[in-house]
Amino acid sequence: MNLLAMQGTKILATGSAVPDSTLSNNQISKIVQTSDEWIVTRTGIKERRLLIGNNKSVIDLATEASLQALSKISMDALEIDLIILATSSPNDLFGSASQVQAKLKALNAVAFDLTAACSGFVLSIVTASQFLQNGSYKTILVIGADVLSKWINWSDRGSCILFGDGAGAIILQSCSIKDNQILGFQLNTNGKYHEHLSLSYKEYKNPHPLLNLYQGYFDSITMNGKEIYKFAVSQVPLSILKCLDSLNITVDEIDWLLLHQANKRILTAVAEKLSVSTDKILMNLNKYGNTSAASIPLVLDESVTYGKISKNDIIVISGFGAGLTWGTVVIKWKY
Ligand code: UT7
Repeated sequence: MNLLAMQGTKILATGSAVPDSTLSNNQISKIVQTSDEWIVTRTGIKERRLLIGNNKSVIDLATEASLQALSKISMDALEIDLIILATSSPNDLFGSASQVQAKLKALNAVAFDLTAACSGFVLSIVTASQFLQNGSYKTILVIGADVLSKWINWSDRGSCILFGDGAGAIILQSCSIKDNQILGFQLNTNGKYHEHLSLSYKEYKNPHPLLNLYQGYFDSITMNGKEIYKFAVSQVPLSILKCLDSLNITVDEIDWLLLHQANKRILTAVAEKLSVSTDKILMNLNKYGNTSAASIPLVLDESVTYGKISKNDIIVISGFGAGLTWGTVVIKWKY
């Protein structure tokens, strides 16, 4: 925590939402050459949820997850001062957070998108806690929501097996420093390797003779799975160790490892590198796959709902992915 912080950050409630429609590994094997056995062995994923229909978007999932969190604490949306929507699949490149604000009728809230792919939720929580700690805002809604199914190349078996759609939300509020739950963070970016995972802009020349203009569109996700795998397994443990070290917390004190749900093998390898028991990994990727910015809040909400997390538990959260960007935030559960 920032030594100059005037206030702490507490977590009031979590919520989540996934589409009803399921796509199993067996169904994917009818789209690309793969098998349930290959996908489960290499990733741990059994199925994922997809947002189907042509007028549903990330807004619907983000709103549903937020309403669930608000209803758990009977909070009126008018109490929210700020909404941060972590997403890389907006339905409007100018930002989708304002549409969530309108749908929630959170008319006192400033709202903006934060784009950082699978690290988006970690970066958003850290961003929110800065506003809370310096006294700018009292109540913040942070949402991680992605609908990557709209951007997947469904003929690329190396990537289409991984992703699913979903949303998770968390309501944060400022509190006295002694009740602070966001203990510290450690963030990183290395843009040199951005091409290992991207959803890049493509250009074509506008044919009008008076316009010497290139215009564009976004293509589909491209990924070098092996490189992302190596990056995650080598860098995530280092980020966690740096963060714990700065807080004088030992690895033995970790109660839960809440890592971005990319691949079961990555999660296990990170735990093993840290010498943390794999029983401490919070995981639901078998049901939802990699839901990008939604993956961490989805697991958090599920773990809280099922009573897995107890008061005073230390939870180490790490996000990693496109950018490349990765980082850790350590929280202490208080309810
Ligand atoms: O938020 C971050 C998002 N990205 C990630 O988390 C990606 C991290 N990387 C991974 O999870 C893994 O690299 C993958 C699951 C994507 C791939 O697993 P892998 O063990 O690294 O496989 P590979 O790419 O080394 O491929 C091994 C073999 C290849 O065949 P050959 O060349 O050995 O004959 C692939 O063509 O497996 C083949 N393969 C598949 N076979 C069946 C690749 N994808 C599939 C598939 N089904 N879906």
